[in-house]
Amino acid sequence: MKKHLITSALPYVNGLPHLGHLIGCLLPSDVFARYLRSRGEEVLYICGTDEHGTPSEVGAAKENMSVEDYCKKYHDLHVQMYQGFNLSFDYFGRTSSQQNEEIVYRIYNELEQNGYIAEKVTKQVYSSDDKRYLPDSYVMGTCPHCGYEKAKGDQCENCTKVLDPTDLIQPRSVISGSDKLEIRETKHLFLQLPKLEKELADWVETRKGIWPDIAYSIAKKWLKEGLQERGITRDLKWGFSVPKEGFEGKVFYVWFDAPIGYIGITKQWADERPSERSFEDWWLNPDNVVHTEFMGKDNIPFHTITFPATLRGTGENWTQVSMLKGMNYLNFAGGKFSKSLHRGIFLDDAIKEFPADYWRYWLIANAPESDDSNFGFEQFAMTINKDLNDVLGNFINRVLKMTTNNFGQQIPVLSQITSEEEELYETLDTLIRQYSSYMDNLDLRKAMATLREIWVSGNNYIARTEPWKVVKTDTDRAATILNTALNLIRLYANLSAPIMPQTAKQMLDLFEISQDISFPDSRMSSYLTGLKAGTAFKLSEPLFKKIMPDRVTELKAIYKEEA
Ligand code: 2FM
Ligand code: ZN
Repeated sequence: MKKHLITSALPYVNGLPHLGHLIGCLLPSDVFARYLRSRGEEVLYICGTDEHGTPSEVGAAKENMSVEDYCKKYHDLHVQMYQGFNLSFDYFGRTSSQQNEEIVYRIYNELEQNGYIAEKVTKQVYSSDDKRYLPDSYVMGTCPHCGYEKAKGDQCENCTKVLDPTDLIQPRSVISGSDKLEIRETKHLFLQLPKLEKELADWVETRKGIWPDIAYSIAKKWLKEGLQERGITRDLKWGFSVPKEGFEGKVFYVWFDAPIGYIGITKQWADERPSERSFEDWWLNPDNVVHTEFMGKDNIPFHTITFPATLRGTGENWTQVSMLKGMNYLNFAGGKFSKSLHRGIFLDDAIKEFPADYWRYWLIANAPESDDSNFGFEQFAMTINKDLNDVLGNFINRVLKMTTNNFGQQIPVLSQITSEEEELYETLDTLIRQYSSYMDNLDLRKAMATLREIWVSGNNYIARTEPWKVVKTDTDRAATILNTALNLIRLYANLSAPIMPQTAKQMLDLFEISQDISFPDSRMSSYLTGLKAGTAFKLSEPLFKKIMPDRVTELKAIYKEEA
């Protein structure tokens, strides 16, 4: 059986993450990792902070800290926030680690030996006011492709086109705001992507129908436009120094060492656990590992073209990406979430307002998969009230109360099952097959909608069988219905756990079941008789609380969500 390597794009360490980052890659990858683990698969789930590059230098300068201290401070904050949202990484590392440096040098040396690195004199933006070169996002200006006025020198966040600082119209320094910029000549190293183009194009072709359209079409577009050589070094202080004569004082470009960071972070994990598998078991083992990568759409070119090319150029047999999930953007009140403008809802605030599972549920149910989607508090409240309170929470409360009132706090006896139960088993067998097939294909919204249907089928079963009436005339029949309904709670916990792990645990705690979450592999006719008569259960506070209109109004004002 192949094992599963899951990576989530590594969030930039500077600043704090918001809901857009959470749904962009972190949460979908966590849901998938949890789902596969619940199916008994061997999973290694890796993420970490992306620490090099200009944003860290700029952020540290703003906070008057050394870049090292700044990165450590924010790395720890990221860790804390992701714990709050129950992201189940096997390891959350750092791209600035010594292990990553080791792998970056190994890969660089192999690329160099194989003739895929060229040295070139380039034109770079130099600021006489700042007395330094201004690479990448140290320069801001107007995007030549879409006219966005706050485009950064490395990529336009509006149209996602990759840029060079010299492309920008009316460029200015991010450090001082100065527009006294000149172009100077300086030496840099370039990855010879054109030499790998044919091999890469053949491989991308094999991904047709496997990768989602958005990933395949972006990769094809790059290939169609013809691959250009790409600079992999920068005139910066913070980063891994370039181990080559004549390149003293220069470092590797953040986008060179960040994806290699997946490997470096796996090595961090392995080095801390000598008894576990080695990093080579995951990364130099393509025949036995399925690698699934999650990322926002702006990251797709790096994961479909430049990183695979980097790995291929080494001549080593690296594990390549098998499946790739690229998400569109989550918008806030019709505009973009923005870290720099602090616009939107950041994870530290989000977790103070509602339990993690409310957010996890809403975000997956509204994941920006085929298109951008929009967060708004009204819609958020409506979804939580309807799906979590009225459908799932209400079912659990009613069943627990009805059973307690008529049979005490234990599972009543299952006697003769009828066509009602048989119909329920059949519906659920079909829906569960659908749910797992959507999960396998990473169709998260559809998986979520199917899970909701599964919950609804429980409500329909109770509505049809009316145990509150039946109990007056036929207690055996009422006991059978409630036995089945209580077993449904265990089913719901196991199916909902990838998306709502805390709630799932609360549901299982009702029966004091401490077993691991496991996906129901048997058919419903036997699964739904798994909890036996006589098993005690606890009564609990309702699992969810409704979000009232005045709270919505308050939240809209606090987070500046325009009507
Ligand atoms: O866009 C981003 O947030 C990048 N820090 C993602 C890097 S993913 C990987 F390649 F490291
Ligand atoms: Zn643009």
